[in-house]
Amino acid sequence: MIIEERMADYIASLESEMPEYLAQLEKHALENEVPIIRKDSQALLKFLIELTKPMEILEIGTAIGFSASLISEYMPEGAKLTTIEKVEMRLVEARKNLAAIKRAKDVTLIEDDALNALKVLREQGRRFDFVFMDAAKAQYMNFLENALPMLKVGSLLVTDNVLQEGSIIDSKFAIERRDRTIHMRMRDFLFSIKHDPKLTTSIVAVGDGMALTLKKQD
Ligand SMILES: C[S@@+](CC[C@H](N)C(=O)[O-])C[C@H]1O[C@@H](n2cnc3c(N)ncnc32)[C@H](O)[C@@H]1O
Repeated sequence: MIIEERMADYIASLESEMPEYLAQLEKHALENEVPIIRKDSQALLKFLIELTKPMEILEIGTAIGFSASLISEYMPEGAKLTTIEKVEMRLVEARKNLAAIKRAKDVTLIEDDALNALKVLREQGRRFDFVFMDAAKAQYMNFLENALPMLKVGSLLVTDNVLQEGSIIDSKFAIERRDRTIHMRMRDFLFSIKHDPKLTTSIVAVGDGMALTLKKQD
C-alpha cells in the first residue's frame, strides 16, 4: 500500500457499484490470486476512458480479462480494444470471459508475447488513441519503445504499478537481489517518461502507482 490502508478503504467505499459481472470477475481474480488492477486504479482508468473517449485502445497484459472488460464497459460506441496476453493459464480464462461481455465483438485478444505482438501491430500500421500498460514490469521500457510510435499525438499512455508497493524510493541495496533488475528498470522507465520532451507525464500515488503520459509530438 502506498497510501494509508484506511484512506484507500474510505475512497473505495465511495465508489458506486460496478456491474455484477465485473464484481464477480474481480472476486474470482482476488480469490485466485490473479493480479488485477486495484480498486482506486479502476476508478481512475474508468474516468480516463470516459474523459478521453478513445476509439482505438491497446492493453498490454490481459490476465483473465478483468480490466479489458472494465474498459469495454466504458469505452464509446464503435470503439475497439486490442489486448495482449501470453500465459496460457490466463488465456484459458480470458478467452471465456471476453467472449461473454456485451462488447465481445469490439475486443480482440492477441495471444502472444507482448513485444512480438507490438512489433506485428506496428508492421500493420496500427495506431491507438489510448494505451494501458500492465504487464511484465521489467519490460516496460521495451514495451514503451514499441507502443509509443503507435500512440497518436494528444493521446494517453497509462502505466500501472510504477511505484512498486512503495519500494521504488528505496536504495537498490535495500531491495532483495532478485528484485533489483525490476527496481532499476522501473526507475529508468520513470526517468525516461518524465524527461522525454515529446511527453508530459504525471505520476500519481493511486493503487500501486500509475503514470499518466500524454504524447505531445511524434
Ligand atoms: C497485472 S496482470 C494484468 C492484469 C489486467 N490488466 C487486469 O487488471 O485485469 C499482468 C499480465 O501480463 C501478462 N504478461 C506479462 N508479461 C507479458 C508479455 N511479455 N507478453 C504478454 N503478456 C505478458 C501476465 O501473464 C499477466 O497476466
